[in-house]
Amino acid sequence: MCGIVGYVGSKQAQDVVMEGLRRLEYRGYDSAGIAVVSDGALHIRKKAGKLANLIELLDQDPLPQSTTGMGHTRWATHGPPNDRNAHPHLSYVGKVAVVHNGIIENFAALRSSLESRGIDLASDTDTEVVAHLVQDAFDEIAPDHETRLREAVRRVCARLEGAFTLVISHADAPGTIIGARRNSPLVAGLGDGEYFLGSDVSAFIAHTREAIELGQDQICEINAERGITVIGFDGGEIELTGYTIDWDDAAAEKGGYDWFMLKEIAEQPAVVADTLRGRLTDTGDIVLDEVRLSDEDFRDITKIFIIACGTSSYAGMIAKYAIEHWTRIPCEVELASEFRYRDPVLDRTTLVIAISQSGETMDTLMALRHAKDQHARILAICNTIGSTIPRESDAVLYTRAGVEIAVASTKAFLAQIVACYLIALHLASVRGVKWGDEVAVIVDQLKAMPAAVEQVLDTMEPVRKLAREELADCAQVLFLGRHVGFPVALEGALKLKELAYMHAEGFAAGELKHGPIALVGDGTPVVVVCPSPLGRDTLHGKIVSNIQEVRARGAKTIVIAEAGDEEVTPYADHVIRVPHCPTLLAPLVTAVPLQVMACEIAAAKGLDVDQPRNLAKSVTVE
Ligand code: G6P
Repeated sequence: MCGIVGYVGSKQAQDVVMEGLRRLEYRGYDSAGIAVVSDGALHIRKKAGKLANLIELLDQDPLPQSTTGMGHTRWATHGPPNDRNAHPHLSYVGKVAVVHNGIIENFAALRSSLESRGIDLASDTDTEVVAHLVQDAFDEIAPDHETRLREAVRRVCARLEGAFTLVISHADAPGTIIGARRNSPLVAGLGDGEYFLGSDVSAFIAHTREAIELGQDQICEINAERGITVIGFDGGEIELTGYTIDWDDAAAEKGGYDWFMLKEIAEQPAVVADTLRGRLTDTGDIVLDEVRLSDEDFRDITKIFIIACGTSSYAGMIAKYAIEHWTRIPCEVELASEFRYRDPVLDRTTLVIAISQSGETMDTLMALRHAKDQHARILAICNTIGSTIPRESDAVLYTRAGVEIAVASTKAFLAQIVACYLIALHLASVRGVKWGDEVAVIVDQLKAMPAAVEQVLDTMEPVRKLAREELADCAQVLFLGRHVGFPVALEGALKLKELAYMHAEGFAAGELKHGPIALVGDGTPVVVVCPSPLGRDTLHGKIVSNIQEVRARGAKTIVIAEAGDEEVTPYADHVIRVPHCPTLLAPLVTAVPLQVMACEIAAAKGLDVDQPRNLAKSVTVE
């Protein structure tokens, strides 16, 4: 949610900043802007709409040469997405430029105190007040103060409430950019005589793999001569903690695909394999990353809550089935945005599993902190190393999906499901609920999943054809599933809403008759995620009845069924085949055709598959 870049070094700042914004655009694309410091002045260009509009503006009205610059790509919170509200925002004398991600909650009070001094605000944003306040604070500090801008930002941060990442430059401080963070993401990059700030590492991955972690309530100064300095909001200097980014630059490119989403869908067999790799010992033991919990802690757990948002919450719903079945520990899945407001009952024996691709989702982070306050143990499943959610957790299992650029999540979803299985198996084995040989059987089944996903991907042409020719013009599509197929149905519907802006709903197939079946009319497409007939009979039999029920009311049935399942054939207008796999692992194959279907429908409708309207990949406001 909003992408931020800052740069000091010897290269042309415009080139570095625009390249960074291009890679961060998935975080928000309501407007974009850039500021550079040159000849004692700030030079700004900003434009509503996608980055392409800013690029066009820069072609018509180029910026002067400069080696100090910053930029922003916006997901609007305060004020509509127009040129005026685009970042950077300038102070009243035009000396300070600010870009911001987050929400400054006390902005109304700050704004009225500025207005009472006769300062006219040029935008509707909460951000602009920061530019004016930094201007004031800077002017109050002696001109010979070596870190004058940093000190000014520190004083202003003490007055701000809410969540924010700020990146700030001053016309009189060439060669310096200041970043500050509270509850919103910011990382620093360490190059050869050049330094970067970014909302995430993709902002500077083209230039360096060396990153510096920035904690909450910290201020980072990047200076062309002094390098990187980090202080707390209290002024105390903080030792730098660095890490090396382990994905390569090519991961952030489309690699010949029309859309990042297509590339990410295709990467799924490798992602499933990577997420498993090295996590399973020969004896069936599971190796977690960064475990600050003992086996004893795991044995003491009496209850599990999974908290997550969006697609990650559907991975959590799938996890619930595996966790309860394999470990016999009660497990609830909750939307992170609802969790803390209902006063959940938690204690030291509760394990809270926070699932997040980005590791920065504010709803999930706040739910996690609430659980921590109640002394629950926190385990993060996350795709972004060094992000806030894993850093604030007691244990972490990283999904190894690599950078996911398309706003609609695909490969991270599959990786999250795999990570959940691993945690469930770990719990089952530590608690002695499953013997080593039982775990080993499931581990072997998991090892077969990358090939099964590959097999699905190899047979997707009929799905694409169906999507283009029969679904793209429909008013609505319904999705049904039972057991683990239910969250898959929810995810299928979400993908279609996100990408194709179509009315789509996922239902528990058994619940349909209690109301939603009224939506079914002549020709209504109903996608049914069918469980294996080799699993529990009752499950398969019940869903076959549900298919018949909608068919009887005129539905066009599209059934995702296992190879060899002929029982569904008479009731299916279209059958999409997936290879056989154990019931609990089936979402890894049944979700894939739904991703392909949504992607193809969006493309057929001429929509932007990677950057759907109104969305952002990393949502850092509540
Ligand atoms: C946003 C994204 C979704 C994602 C959700 C949770 O809404 O658009 O694709 O599922 O956030 O994100 P997380 O990074 O916590 O998994």
